[in-house]
Amino acid sequence: MKKILVLYYSRTGNTERMANAVAKGAKINDNIAVELNFHVEPQDLSSFDAIIIGAPTYHHEMPVDFKNLFEEAAVAGISLKGKEGATFGSYGWSGEAPKLILEIMKNKFQMQVTEPPLLANYLPNEKTLSACEELGKKVAENLLNPP
Ligand SMILES: Cc1cc2nc3c(=O)[nH]c(=O)nc-3n(C[C@H](O)[C@H](O)[C@H](O)COP(=O)(O)O)c2cc1C
Repeated sequence: MKKILVLYYSRTGNTERMANAVAKGAKINDNIAVELNFHVEPQDLSSFDAIIIGAPTYHHEMPVDFKNLFEEAAVAGISLKGKEGATFGSYGWSGEAPKLILEIMKNKFQMQVTEPPLLANYLPNEKTLSACEELGKKVAENLLNPP
């Protein structure tokens, strides 16, 4: 059984809609378990084979919860090396957060990342929600059949 975490933050529900679609797409069969959550402890990260993070951009930054999560995971020496990683998020005009998180996954934690991040301008439309499902599916398929 492979485990996928879909971790997200959302103040007005836009990134949450994306997260629901990513989680739905990731559940491709009974060999994949998907946890959709808005908070985990740094040590919880070790138990997942893939970590997909949904982050809206506020003030050109990622949510402070995710900054703290990564800083604490680094300080605690938690290894995420080789795990699958992907990011997505809603934005208004600049959309830095998913890119910043993907950079940390790749450069600090040496995760296998799916690039580029998936962005939705404000409320995700049907096309973007389909792309979210595809992103979840792709990560799940990578776990079952490594590229
Ligand atoms: C106070 C405030 C600051 C924001 N700053 C940014 C920003 O720096 N860049 C950007 O692309 N969008 C910015 N936005 C727009 C949000 O990213 C956008 O509303 C997004 O859909 C929120 O996602 P959520 O519903 O998941 O919280 C900001 C919105 C607010 C209310």
